[in-house]
Amino acid sequence: MQFTTLGRTGLRVSVAGLGCGGHSRLGQSYGNSTADSVAVVSAALDAGINFIDTAAAYRTEQIVGEALQGRRESVVISTKSGVQKQDRGTREMRPIAPAELHKRLDDSLSRLRTDYVDVYNLHGVVESELDYAHNELLPVLQAQQQQGKIRFLGITERFIADTGHAMLQQALQSDVWDVVMVGFNLLNPSARERVLNRTQAQNVGVQDMFAVRRALSDPEALVEEIQIAVATGQVDADAVDLKDPLGSILEQSGAASVVELAYRFCRHEPGVQVVLTGTGKIEHLLHNVDAINGPPLPDQTQCDLADLFGRVDCLSGN
Ligand SMILES: NC(=O)c1ccc[n+]([C@@H]2O[C@H](COP(=O)([O-])OP(=O)(O)OC[C@H]3O[C@@H](n4cnc5c(N)ncnc54)[C@H](OP(=O)(O)O)[C@@H]3O)[C@@H](O)[C@H]2O)c1
Repeated sequence: MQFTTLGRTGLRVSVAGLGCGGHSRLGQSYGNSTADSVAVVSAALDAGINFIDTAAAYRTEQIVGEALQGRRESVVISTKSGVQKQDRGTREMRPIAPAELHKRLDDSLSRLRTDYVDVYNLHGVVESELDYAHNELLPVLQAQQQQGKIRFLGITERFIADTGHAMLQQALQSDVWDVVMVGFNLLNPSARERVLNRTQAQNVGVQDMFAVRRALSDPEALVEEIQIAVATGQVDADAVDLKDPLGSILEQSGAASVVELAYRFCRHEPGVQVVLTGTGKIEHLLHNVDAINGPPLPDQTQCDLADLFGRVDCLSGN
């Protein structure tokens, strides 16, 4: 396993991080037992992963807590709380109160069976929520940081709704976040200019999500996704073969699969430190760890991908 430094946190982290959310949620979304999911986390640690991302909303914190028994100190844990919740009466979304955030952190610590979290993130924030997050919730997190319950502060974007990174571009202007989580993949590399340039300048740590997600692990979803970009004019219809959009690039790249191509693309992007991989299957996990530790893609592959997808900012790959 290769290691790197997570920006200004100084934490030494594996370049592959285990994502405990996404469509799989450690396989909890499709029938893995708790023991199966604990085994996925244990296999990740055995493979050298020391970075784990979870969230209250994923309902996998308890599984992580169980798997980390006796191994907590060697692992960097990232977890999160949303900034809105549904009102039980009106069913409308409303911002969570500062005191509620405090309780959410304590609940996460209890499920994770630890007394501190390395990176605590506000989860899936959009631009319209940022002022509230910054003015009302950040002071709560800073107070908890003073008490030693949080080591570093993070924020994650809602990439499906914000494929052009409006929130993170705004959030980075105040330089209060030690770590950000950004959506970046070969279908939508727009974070390179809009987010990663700035995180590098400010030495902010970066977790990459959506490296593979659905479009890059399911050929039919890939075609559907690319059709959206063709319709908006961001992908040139004449330049792409919709029967097998990545076929010739994959062949020329030397990667064994689209999944490998996709993880290697993200892993070597300047400014990306941890590439998250989410799965409920140990076989997939080990394949992905190998891919993330693989060499950079050939220059020609990078050029071909830039020619095809370099202007895209409307896709998430979901
Ligand atoms: N806003 C946020 O804060 C936010 C949003 C989304 C995600 N995240 C974080 O980012 C992490 C990564 O999530 P992601 O879902 O975006 O992307 P991902 O982990 O790159 O992709 C995961 C999907 O690809 C499949 N897959 C994985 N390896 C495969 C392989 N070798 N062959 C075939 N299929 C494979 C998985 O299904 P199988 O289970 O079948 O392998 C799963 O459906 C999440 O777990 C979460 O921690 C954060």
